[in-house]
Amino acid sequence: MNDPRVIVALDFSRAADALNLADRLAPQVCRLKVGKELFTAAGPQLVEKLMLKGFDIFLDLKYHDIPNTVANACKAAASLGVWMMNVHALGGRKMLMAAREAIPSGSTKLIAVTLLTSMDQDDLADIGLQGQPEEIVERLARLADDCALDGVVCSALETAHLRQLVGDHFILVTPGIRLAGGQADDQKRITTPRQAIQNGSSYLVIGRPITQADDPFLICQRLSEEIS
Ligand code: C5P
Repeated sequence: MNDPRVIVALDFSRAADALNLADRLAPQVCRLKVGKELFTAAGPQLVEKLMLKGFDIFLDLKYHDIPNTVANACKAAASLGVWMMNVHALGGRKMLMAAREAIPSGSTKLIAVTLLTSMDQDDLADIGLQGQPEEIVERLARLADDCALDGVVCSALETAHLRQLVGDHFILVTPGIRLAGGQADDQKRITTPRQAIQNGSSYLVIGRPITQADDPFLICQRLSEEIS
């Protein structure tokens, strides 16, 4: 079965830009990520249009609320037929379990965000979270696994360690990917696609190196070959 490892981040504010890029890509070489900006602007109709073009969609809305609210939001997202969606592991065990119950295993993949990579140790102390970010990430990944979620989003630098703690089935989705020799943009800790896959990543989230390329399809195709 065709299982592209590249997930292109559609970081646009207008549906037309997202659809235009989708027309320059193909479901054989990538999946697509719709996040808060695009979903807030363009809504479920856009998700449906992208799916009609044959793409699997990762709906990246990072739900974090009381268990009942998150469970209902998860049901609504899954009913769109998206391939994967996510919640915040910091919502805690009850919320994660409610989300899992709302989306039966084997349908839409349900993963958790552990810690946002934008948070350093001072930010964590600010909100009363003690310990090193890596320890907290590990704890939250174990919690997600414990609650039978399908995986987590993690930095490529955490991937190798997390892969040792969880089974092969557990999905590790990794942003912060840059092509060898490409520019870093605002990403601080970057990894090449090949390194990320070697470290145990299941899927790579890639935005600007593809969305701003002259030929996005060609980049995706090269990436698929590089990591296959
Ligand atoms: O353009 P670029 O490849 O940097 O885009 C990366 C995508 O992954 C963006 O949609 C960004 O919001 C997302 N992301 C990230 N770091 C995280 C979680 C998500 O870069 N820790």
